[in-house]
Amino acid sequence: MSVAGRRVVLGVSGGIAAYKAVGVCRRLVDAGAHVAPVLTPNATRFIGAATFSAVASEPALTSLYDSGEPSPHTRLGQSADLVVIAPATARVISAYATGNSEGLLVATLLATRAPVLLCPAMHTEMWEHPAVQDNLEVLRRRGVHVLDPEVGQLAGGDVGAGRLPEPAAIVAAAQAVLAPQDLKGVRVLVSAGGTREKIDAVRVISNRSSGKQGHAIAEDAAARGASVTLVTTTDRAVSRGIERIAVASAADMQAAVLAHRDASDVIVMAAAVADFRPAAPAEGKIKKDAGVPQIVLEPTEDILRGLGEAKRPGQILVGFAAETDDVASNALGKLQRKNLDLIVANDVGAPGVGFDHDTNAVTLIGTGGPILDIPLSSKHDVARALLDAVVALLKDVRSTS
Ligand code: CTP
Repeated sequence: MSVAGRRVVLGVSGGIAAYKAVGVCRRLVDAGAHVAPVLTPNATRFIGAATFSAVASEPALTSLYDSGEPSPHTRLGQSADLVVIAPATARVISAYATGNSEGLLVATLLATRAPVLLCPAMHTEMWEHPAVQDNLEVLRRRGVHVLDPEVGQLAGGDVGAGRLPEPAAIVAAAQAVLAPQDLKGVRVLVSAGGTREKIDAVRVISNRSSGKQGHAIAEDAAARGASVTLVTTTDRAVSRGIERIAVASAADMQAAVLAHRDASDVIVMAAAVADFRPAAPAEGKIKKDAGVPQIVLEPTEDILRGLGEAKRPGQILVGFAAETDDVASNALGKLQRKNLDLIVANDVGAPGVGFDHDTNAVTLIGTGGPILDIPLSSKHDVARALLDAVVALLKDVRSTS
């Protein structure tokens, strides 16, 4: 289940990040949601209601009394499948926590039984203030979903925690709130990012993997109820509840993966693991006066192949195949050689695909051959399709055991 075909109330409160909510609105509509925007009067100081009316599925409302409808908050609240508040200011969070229904937005929040996703955005001092944190704690205890703000540039040039995440991340979080809980009780291990192999004290051999695909899989698996361990080479933040293990080299990654192998029901190796590493990395920095160094490489362990050899019955093993030629046949060969259940083949030579992009185009291949072609889509869409295939495999395993 996703936001497609669902009714979403998009609440916008009065902070500078209100302009970003237009992007959220557009993306939700593009994803197939019916979006009803509700702006607080202060939000309209930053962005016009007419802008939201133009991109949303129905006109934006800003007040309990001006639309001519007798009870807009109960109509919106009762018909919503999801309410997203982005940005959520300290004032709206406080009003929601204490049940102060003065304006249309908080009245709608009180009049709904739909899940609510709050996306707070404010200056760091305000974000860290105990009054704000206590209110959020109260709301979390009541089952409200909170997407923590990011660290980054804030209004006025300050830098710190409190920045509203980008629209794509907010829409992904909204999709996650509506996700089915079909991975509840399943332990999922995911690897992500490109490994870094040491040349000397300051230099490494690496690759252009951003880790975005692996992180999207970890986030989406957690949203579907899995308990997730993510072994990652990146410093990307992860949601609460995901166990994050930071590694750098292929050897570090192998150690972390092996430590969790036996406890995992599903292992997804999305990392771009180096195939070669310097055989004798220098302790200090290699100086240029000594001339051009000859760096001798040695092979790394193939982590996935090792996992395939030691696979226990019922364990699901998923690999990736980054290819530039004969994509499907090379990927199927990898699946067979490494004893996998599923492989995600991507043509990394195609535009917008794979490394360093927000989008991916892949073919899911099972032991019987191609299962699904996913045209250029967001990495969360790819993650969702991959997890759907994993859920189907788990069902097969459970029905035959
Ligand atoms: N992989 C791994 N350990 C390695 C290399 C790759 O676990 N040392 C995993 C990757 O995480 C991925 C899969 O193997 O899931 C395939 O990676 P890829 O680089 O496409 O293939 P390779 O097996 O390295 O083969 P080649 O480089 O020849 O295409």
